[in-house]
Amino acid sequence: MKFFLDTAEVEEIKTASEWGILDGVTTNPSLMYKAGRKDFHQAVVDICKIVKGPVSAEVTAPETDSKAMIEQGRELAKLHKNVYVKIPMFPEGVKAIKQLSSEGIRVNCTLIFSANQALIAAKAGAAYVSPFIGRVDDAGHEGILIIEEIREIFDNYDFDTEILAASLRHPLHVKQVALAGADIATIPFSVMQQLFKHPLTDVGQKKFLDDWAKLNK
Ligand code: G3P
Repeated sequence: MKFFLDTAEVEEIKTASEWGILDGVTTNPSLMYKAGRKDFHQAVVDICKIVKGPVSAEVTAPETDSKAMIEQGRELAKLHKNVYVKIPMFPEGVKAIKQLSSEGIRVNCTLIFSANQALIAAKAGAAYVSPFIGRVDDAGHEGILIIEEIREIFDNYDFDTEILAASLRHPLHVKQVALAGADIATIPFSVMQQLFKHPLTDVGQKKFLDDWAKLNK
């Protein structure tokens, strides 16, 4: 399973990259805003220099305008060979996915909230589909069920499209999507930090080091 960081903060990406478990990065306009990166294209280039894997960058054209999405997608893809273009799940977005994919540009279809939306994106040639688990939970439904359904559908028909589980809010989400067979989990930095932690690890380490110190008095 691949681990992506869901952030536009360069320092977070550097830190996770040094851990040696980072396979890629996902961004979106809200994460760019949070990181204060008005220089959106430069931010994408900066991130690509740090992480040696896929970096998702999202188009900001209206969802009703496939031509504008395609143009923006081409520009984003030119920034770096590892850029995956994020396109939202709308009919015009699907047109853009089809066109960009036919040009060899890898597309991450975003704002997926149902298995049927994922199926459409896969048929259009998306490299990734991004179901938003936490937001489905927020709406009072079980987000994890969507990952399970998409996994079954993609396996039924041997789609190459990878499932990128997004909107993960806590370590349990990461475990759930791993069990459900997501190909990629994109994880906020704070949640990635939490994945390392267990109180018994801290207690056990303290005892080992205390005993070692006593032995060597
Ligand atoms: O990758 C999409 C993700 O950033 C959305 O997360 O927490 O805003 O629902 P959230």
